[in-house]
Formats: sequence, C-alpha cells, structure tokens
Amino acid sequence: MLSGKRILLIIGGGIAAYKVLDLIRRLRERGVHVTPVLTASGEEFITPLSVGALAGSRVYRDLFDLTDEAEMGHIQLSRAADLLVVAPATADMMARMAGGMANDLATTLLLATDKQVLLAPAMNVRMWRHPATERNLATLRGGGIHFVGPNDGEMACGEFGPGRMAEPLEIVAAIEAALAVGPLTGRHVIITSGPTHEPIDPVRYIANRSSGTQGAALAAALRDLGARVSFITGPASVPPPQGVDVTRIETAREMHEAVLDHLPADAAVFAAAVADWRVSNAAERKLKKDATGKAPKLDFTENPDILASVAQMTKGRPRLIVGFAAETHDVIANAEAKRTRKGCDWIVANDVSPASGIMGGTENAVTILSAAGAETWPRMSKEAVAARLAGRIAAALA
Ligand code: CTP
Repeated sequence: MLSGKRILLIIGGGIAAYKVLDLIRRLRERGVHVTPVLTASGEEFITPLSVGALAGSRVYRDLFDLTDEAEMGHIQLSRAADLLVVAPATADMMARMAGGMANDLATTLLLATDKQVLLAPAMNVRMWRHPATERNLATLRGGGIHFVGPNDGEMACGEFGPGRMAEPLEIVAAIEAALAVGPLTGRHVIITSGPTHEPIDPVRYIANRSSGTQGAALAAALRDLGARVSFITGPASVPPPQGVDVTRIETAREMHEAVLDHLPADAAVFAAAVADWRVSNAAERKLKKDATGKAPKLDFTENPDILASVAQMTKGRPRLIVGFAAETHDVIANAEAKRTRKGCDWIVANDVSPASGIMGGTENAVTILSAAGAETWPRMSKEAVAARLAGRIAAALA
C-alpha cells in the first residue's frame, strides 16, 4: 500500500532521532522513497552519513545551500513528496510551525508545502504539558496536522509520562492512515471510547463494564475510509487501533476537556460509556477502615454531559454528531428521548442488559435513530457494525 510513495522526512533534534534510522529502514522495506532533511540539531544526534546510507538518498541540510537550490528549490522539494513527516518533532519545532516561522530549511519546507504533514512529537513530559506547547498543539491540530504519539513511558531524561516518540512501526501505521484515500479523506472525526474511571481515593475508582471494543472498531473503520481520527479513550481493555491520534484520559472531566481540545471536527462520535457521576468528596489519601466499622460516606456530583455540550454548541458544532444509547429496557423509546434531549443527529441504540451479552462482548445489535426514523440492523460483530456505520457517516458528510 505504501509502495512507490514519496516521503519527505524531517529529522528534528532529540535523542529519539536514533529511532528514525529504523523508521527509514522500515519505510524502505515497504518500497517508500524517503528524502531526508536533517536539521542542525538533529545532526547533533545522528550523522548525515548514516541517514543518507539508509535512505539511499541525498540528505538535505541547509536552506542556503546554493547547490540544493540549483538542483531542487525548497518549494519544489516540499511538494514533490506525498507526505511530510517530522520525527522527532521537538517542542521548539512545534512552536515554530505554529508561529508560521521559516527560519531554517525544515520550517521553510513545512510552510511552503501543499501536502499533508504528520508529526511524531518527542520531548520531556513537562515540556509536553507546558501550556505553551498545549497551545501550539491546538493550533497545529486545528490546521489539520496529523499526530502520532507521544507515548507514555520512561524517557531518556529519567522522567516518566507522555513524551516518548511513537515507535517506528506506529509511525509507519500513521503514515499509511494519513495516505489512505477514501470518501473521508480530508475529514476529521473525533471518537470517544471506553469507560471512564472516577476516583474514590488514590487507589480506588468507580468504573463500568465497557471494553472500548465498539469505539476502537469504529475508529479503525473511519481511518480505513481516509478520515483523520482523534481517538479519545478511557482505560479500555482493548488497545486503540494503529494510525489514529490517541489521547488517553481517565475521568469524564478529562474526556470533556480532550474533546474540546480536538475541535474543530467534521463529525464526532460519542461511543464512550461516561460515568454520569463522580465522587465529589474523593479522598486525597487512601481511605482506611476505622475501629467502629463505619463505612465511608461518598457524595456524588453529576459529570458534564460531553455529548450534549458539543451537540448544543452554537458555534463550531461538528456537522454530524452521533451518540450511543446503552439501555437495559424500553430501548427505542429511551434512545429517541435521549436523541432529542441531547440534541445529537443520530443515536446508535443498543440493549446492554446482561442477557444480551453486548457490553464487553464481541457482537452488537443496534438500532440507528435519526430525524428520518428508526432502522434496526441484525445482530453482527462490532467490526461489522463499525464498517456499516462508518459508511453511513461518509455518506452523510459527502
Ligand atoms: N455521554 C457523554 N457524557 C456523559 C454521559 C453520556 O458524552 N456525561 C454520551 C455517551 O457517550 C453516549 C450518550 O451520551 O453517546 C448516551 O450515554 P448513556 O450513558 O446511554 O446516557 P446517559 O446520559 O447516561 O442517560 P441515562 O442516564 O438516562 O441512561
């Protein structure tokens, strides 16, 4: 699928640059033409010789290299590729991109291109979480830039958290997804998925039985139709699909914030099983049994309704909003009431009573409710529901 594609690979300055050598190898194995651009700071970590040898291509290094300009101008270089990939994308590179700067070859190419751009960020966790980086991330996302990672994990600097560059094969999957051509090419879809965890104290939480299977299948199906997918997931038991931009959250409030951060979008699908309430008196320290045997008293507060808040936006509302309704009785009547109350366009209703085996299972039996009426689909695998629903979403956005 990638064979014959041309990738302009911009290598930023970070310890993760060493993984880019493996990325080049993986891409070449798949028949991709890789044209590397090594930034001055990237060159502090890996050498032009190793990059050039693995890529089987000349390595572009300096904006003012007149030989380069004579051979291929920077405008042409930025457009000869099918996709631009920046790996590792540092905090500084993201800031310069968000600010529209063109003060070296890499940023000039990124500003001059008419092609899609994929970023694989890598930086210290505090730099990733800094409000300035968060602002730049929102600006770049809003401009339609694709992201893969960063992943959670131990970093070269010894700290732990999000900031590690995605692995080479994850970047390959994201490249495949960015280049996928289908009816949703150029569209951005947000999906929420999985359960939320609402803390009781630092070690205990309230959760539900959602496995995240339906949301993950839908994200994969939309990706396969060419969509850029922002996948916002609670602690699910199935892994997120490859090739989508994953944001992991725990609580309903974090999920709400993440959804707002990923707008604008053409469509939003709310497949998550969000906890309706959170414990308002969650303890800072682990709750201990006391000698009297008295159980602790938990107070509850209602969580924000993420679906309703986005469906009722007066400005910037995604064109299509799809909710799910998990019901144990009066499925259709309850779901239709939910659709009108929340203000979404479609509701995918399903029966989650224990006898149905749907929650946490591999199959689903759904009814799609819209202004046009109700349509019941036969029981089928969650992948089949996802493929059919993705097709409907593509048709609605066409
Ligand atoms: N939802 C949401 N935010 C919430 C609660 C629900 O975004 N705080 C979304 C779910 O992702 C789903 C839809 O709303 O798409 C319906 O969820 P469901 O749990 O079935 O409905 P509730 O709002 O909990 O309504 P009820 O308690 O009446 O079943």
